[in-house]
Amino acid sequence: MLDKKVAELINEQINKELYSAYLYWDFANFYADEGLDGFRNWYEVQAKEERDHAIMMRAYLIDSGVRVTFGKIDKPDVKLKEFMDPLKAGLEHERYVTSLITAIYEAASEAKDYKTMQFLDWFVKEQGEEEKNAEDLVKKMKLFGGDAKGLYMLDQELAARTYVPSTNLPANA
Ligand code: FEO
Repeated sequence: MLDKKVAELINEQINKELYSAYLYWDFANFYADEGLDGFRNWYEVQAKEERDHAIMMRAYLIDSGVRVTFGKIDKPDVKLKEFMDPLKAGLEHERYVTSLITAIYEAASEAKDYKTMQFLDWFVKEQGEEEKNAEDLVKKMKLFGGDAKGLYMLDQELAARTYVPSTNLPANA
C-alpha cells in the first residue's frame, strides 16, 4: 500500500502531465499557424511524451491498489507572439515540473516508500533530459533564429524528431 500523501501527489501529477501535453499541443498549434512545421512536430512529439508520463503514473497507482481520480485540466495560459515565446515558456515549465517531481520524491523518501522512489528515478532522469532539450532549443533559437535561412534550417532539424514510446509504458497503453 502506498503512503496516502505520496499517492495523492502522484494522482495530482497525472493532471500536471496532461496539462503539459495540452501546453505543448498549444505550442504546436501556434507554430502550425506560423508555417513552422518542424517546430510544430517537435512539440507534438513532446506532447505525446507528456501524455505517456500521465499513463505511466496512472498505471503505477492502479497497480499499487490506489483509486485514481481526475480533476479538470487547465487551459494553457501562455501568451504566444514571438517564435521564441514557446521555447522560453517550455523551459520554464519543465523547471516547474522538475520541482514537482522532486517534491514527490522527497515525500516518498520521508515515508520510506522505496518502491515509489524507484518508480520516480526514471522521471528524475527524464526531467534532466527535458530541461536540457528545452535549454538547447532556446540557445539554438538565439543563435540561428534571427534570420530566415537560420530559422528554416532549425525548422528542418526539428522536423526530424520522432516519437519513440518509452519502454516503461504499460503494454496496453
Ligand atoms: Fe512530463 Fe516534461 O515532464
